[in-house]
Amino acid sequence: MVTLKALSLGLLASPTFAINYTQPYRPQFHFSPTKNWMNDPAGLIYHNGNYHLYFQYNPGGIEWGNMSWGHATSDDLTHWQEQPVALLARGFPDNVTEMFFTGSAVADEQNTSGFGAGGKTPLVALYTSYYPIAQTLPSGKEVKTNQQSQSLAYSLDDGTTWTTYDAGNPVIHNPPSPYEEEYQNFRDPFVFWHAETRKWIMVSTLAGIHKLALWTSDNLKDWSHASFFGPFNAVGGVWECPNLFPLDLDSSTKWVMVMGLNPGGPPGTVGSGTQYFIGDFDGTTFVPDEDSVYEGNKSANWMDWGPDFYAAASYNGLDERMAVGWMNNWQYGEKIPTYPWRSAMSTPRQLSLKTIGGKPTLIQRPHAQIQSIEGKDHSSSWKFFEEGTQDLGSVGKTLDIELSFSASNATDFGIIVQATPDFKEQTKIGYNFTSQMIFVDRRNSGESSFDGTFASIYHAPLAPSYDGTVHLRILVDWSSVEVFGGQGETTLTAQIFPDRSATFARLFSNGGGVEDVKVDMKRVSSIWN
Ligand SMILES: *[C@@H]1O[C@H](CO)[C@@H](O)[C@H](O)[C@H]1NC(C)=O
Ligand SMILES: *[C@@H]1O[C@H](CO)[C@@H](O)[C@H](O)[C@H]1NC(C)=O
Ligand SMILES: *[C@@H]1O[C@H](CO)[C@@H](O)[C@H](O)[C@H]1NC(C)=O
Ligand SMILES: *[C@@H]1O[C@H](CO)[C@@H](O)[C@H](O)[C@H]1NC(C)=O
Ligand SMILES: *[C@@H]1O[C@H](CO)[C@@H](O)[C@H](O)[C@H]1NC(C)=O
Ligand SMILES: *[C@@H]1O[C@H](CO)[C@@H](O)[C@H](O)[C@H]1NC(C)=O
Ligand SMILES: *[C@@H]1O[C@H](CO)[C@@H](O)[C@H](O)[C@H]1NC(C)=O
Repeated sequence: MVTLKALSLGLLASPTFAINYTQPYRPQFHFSPTKNWMNDPAGLIYHNGNYHLYFQYNPGGIEWGNMSWGHATSDDLTHWQEQPVALLARGFPDNVTEMFFTGSAVADEQNTSGFGAGGKTPLVALYTSYYPIAQTLPSGKEVKTNQQSQSLAYSLDDGTTWTTYDAGNPVIHNPPSPYEEEYQNFRDPFVFWHAETRKWIMVSTLAGIHKLALWTSDNLKDWSHASFFGPFNAVGGVWECPNLFPLDLDSSTKWVMVMGLNPGGPPGTVGSGTQYFIGDFDGTTFVPDEDSVYEGNKSANWMDWGPDFYAAASYNGLDERMAVGWMNNWQYGEKIPTYPWRSAMSTPRQLSLKTIGGKPTLIQRPHAQIQSIEGKDHSSSWKFFEEGTQDLGSVGKTLDIELSFSASNATDFGIIVQATPDFKEQTKIGYNFTSQMIFVDRRNSGESSFDGTFASIYHAPLAPSYDGTVHLRILVDWSSVEVFGGQGETTLTAQIFPDRSATFARLFSNGGGVEDVKVDMKRVSSIWN
């Protein structure tokens, strides 16, 4: 879709797209592909000094289709370089017979797969093969129309080029018994090395029946079904893109299962969402803690309370746990007013666990290296911020904001960002002291006509800290806001499509004042221009 706005800005002046990263709404410090459609991050791996970001990609269009693995690399999780497509839909462009859906990648240091050669450690990717037509594969295996199976590819040049394992693919042909009939909804293998049992573990999803299937392997090629997980908690839509990983909690190790569901996201949103469970994993079975599951399916542990954080995937190959989400939503993802690309990735988030309010809780923080692209700090503070507003001026469209404050007699307090000079367009981020909720109000945030549900206000629970302080960290880019509340126990991510002139900000306090207000604001540089 080409908007009139884009035309009037001369975007299409040249017959080949004048590709640069200054188009309307182009994220300045989030990854987005130069052109075309992107969805789930997949195959995230840190290897030999490079962070690899593979992703679901359509090399032939700006909506979902021709699914392939796009590729970008970074040496600091901040500056990204788009690379050639890593796994191109088989038969593209005329006759696609296999698409490469979401998966994961590991470094097979011990050559368990036998794919190593010439002294090179093989990188091995497990992904979902989607077969739009029934066929007999080179391995002799027969697949049905619309079948999804798990396949393998390996790389001997550190993740640049990949070879599909045609002699054996798919390595998991059908869903485990008794769910063979789920073959059209069997996907998203997440693989990791489990040192305690010296085995590879795979978590895959039976998306339509809200079950995960866990598998084990010695060599990444032969897999044994080990257990099932689910259904639990939110089951409003399909379960997709599982991740399972350990994190320290106090002096013990817990395991965290993360998955996307679409639709059926957090209360007040429409479309996709991401939930998590904390529990234990013994090498075959993941058992969620009692306080991580809810009776019936009334609630969930939401990884993010906003509308635009889906298909979160975490990095293999790092000591710390770093996750990236698709910053979009299936409700309107294919209609967002960006051109010639659609979708961006979230800021990479460092994950940890903490007991908060007596409950083990996932904590998320923007990765530390974002500081390398931040300018100097502009701070202001008020012992008492009276009811009303305080203009902060034209502060720009790429910001890292830290805001802290304590309740007095205000009902709600917060900051308006990405406002036009007349404040008719604005995105409001604040805290409601009565409901103890963060809110992001994008009802007047800019372009929203592409979807009737987009212009909405979103809420996320956050208790003040023990001393009564509320702390919000807010990352603002040209077309997104990401809010990290408290210590990172609550996050809320939302896209916005404001006018280019929306560079103004203002603090507001309603119904009374607030105490001990401190705002620290840093401009974030573009990673592209
Ligand atoms: C980049 O895009 C902007 C508008 O989106 C255009 O004005 C500018 O000329 C382009 N620059 C280059 C080098 O193509
Ligand atoms: C797939 O790619 C082909 C070739 O570029 C293109 O014609 C087609 O529209 C694409 N399909 C979708 C659904 O984008
Ligand atoms: C597409 O490719 C498949 C597998 O190679 C082949 O059987 C089929 O005839 C092709 N279809 C067209 C329209 O070329
Ligand atoms: C990995 O195993 C294969 C098959 O056994 C062998 O040919 C290759 O030399 C090994 N590579 C390395 C780097 O050990
Ligand atoms: C709870 O389950 C019902 C029935 O499966 C479903 O309709 C509803 O959307 C679910 N709610 C959530 C929050 O997942
Ligand atoms: C704050 O929350 C209370 C209680 O839920 C609600 O009545 C009120 O409308 C909210 N205020 C704002 C500004 O959202
Ligand atoms: C809020 O508290 C301040 C400071 O004590 C006071 O001046 C102001 O009148 C109060 N406002 C309301 C609406 O109660």
